[in-house]
Amino acid sequence: MSVTALLGCLYGDEGKAKIVDYLSSDMDVIVRFQGGSNAGHTIHFNKKKFVLHLIPCGIFHPGKICVLSSGVVIDPFQLESEMEALREQSVNFEGRFFIDERAAIVLPIHKILDEKNENLNENKKIGTTKRGIGPCYADNVSRIAIRIHDLKSKDILKNKLEHIYRFHDLRDSIDFKEIDNQVLKLYDFGQKYKHYFINFPYVIQKYMNDNKKILFEGAQGSLLDIYFGTYPYVTSSHTISGGIASAVGFSPKRIDQIIGIFKSYFTRVGEGPFPTELNDKIGKKIQKQGNEFGSTTGRPRRCGWFDAVTARYSAMINGVDTAVITLLDVLSGFDTIKICVAYDANGTIYREFPADSAVLYNYSPVYLEMPGWKEDISLCKHWHELPKNAQKYVDMIEELINIPVKIISVGPSREQTITR
Ligand code: GDP
Ligand code: IMO
Ligand code: MG
Repeated sequence: MSVTALLGCLYGDEGKAKIVDYLSSDMDVIVRFQGGSNAGHTIHFNKKKFVLHLIPCGIFHPGKICVLSSGVVIDPFQLESEMEALREQSVNFEGRFFIDERAAIVLPIHKILDEKNENLNENKKIGTTKRGIGPCYADNVSRIAIRIHDLKSKDILKNKLEHIYRFHDLRDSIDFKEIDNQVLKLYDFGQKYKHYFINFPYVIQKYMNDNKKILFEGAQGSLLDIYFGTYPYVTSSHTISGGIASAVGFSPKRIDQIIGIFKSYFTRVGEGPFPTELNDKIGKKIQKQGNEFGSTTGRPRRCGWFDAVTARYSAMINGVDTAVITLLDVLSGFDTIKICVAYDANGTIYREFPADSAVLYNYSPVYLEMPGWKEDISLCKHWHELPKNAQKYVDMIEELINIPVKIISVGPSREQTITR
């Protein structure tokens, strides 16, 4: 199959980076299509750990082309520091790293607004990453954003930047010198990297005509999608498969296969409903065994049992063809493992994920229980080496979400991956 989408199907941090890295050796082009430096994608490479925020995870595979499409919001200085760190590891960008000229730019004002919006919501904070993502997407929709193609002109940059400060009623909070300073930095960034900027819809068309293998790398997760997630506790982009074509500029008919990544348990960073959350020692044990601390902000991730109602909804809205189960090794050592199969609200049973996520706070999970396994499975290389109870757990998830599970991850490195 030449065009594959790989998406996090839960609340983010499903281990997307590891799987993208694992699949990249078989790909020609890896494209990030949404989100920005709110993402934290961890890869273990050369016995070292790297956390990428903007650069596609295919970058560690020499010769593979990596692209940020128009749907990504780009913080130029984050990008530059990420590139510098990778160059120190001998990663080469020339001729293989590109950015669509349409991508919007995250500015210092967006981070100020992100913080300000959160502080306004004293009791209803979203718990954003404070990377300016929401305000940047909002400016883009308001048709005032600075885009990559604007970097070629200091005049355009200055006019637009001033307009953005006026639009947000913050013109008086910044002096002319600071505006000029920001203009200069943006302009210099544009000059330095202009050979990376491309008109991607034409380029991807050519890649497809040449039968190149293309992988769309998702960021965040489906339950953080701006429309279909637990609104308002979501990110500000379309994280689901339906968002890919509009964030890239090609026909949705061209996507051949959609791979969904599901963690073997659930985690969430930031605020928002989470019916299977475990505020007890089991939750703490999962957090410890899974080292569940945010890759971008370092915040502890909230942990809970696998919620099959949510996972099924996610598989449905994405049209997932095959599933990957990650972090299965983390569940070793539990006597019993639970899976939520429905929600109970005062005796009424619900089997659908609601539009109004506030009702989730009143839902209690209805669990099925399965016996756990004691063995360390992180060295298992084949399906038949997994303990029977681990196999049964994967089979149960497969049955509940009604999608074949083709890959199982039992550790952070490339080798700790089982295919079946
Ligand atoms: P992403 O945002 O979806 O790419 O995921 P993150 O990188 O934010 O978080 C996943 C974490 O789990 C990272 O620390 C990975 O190194 C790690 N990881 C990925 N797959 C596995 C796995 O199968 N087992 C274990 N134990 N860790 C994993
Ligand atoms: P990856 O790609 C987990 C969460 C934030 C917050 C909400 C909105 O690593 O899976 P934002 O800064 O986007 O406006 O924050 O979304 N969030 C993530 N949670 N993984 C991520 O990315 C996330 N990116 C954003 O914690 O709840
Ligand atoms: Mg992450």
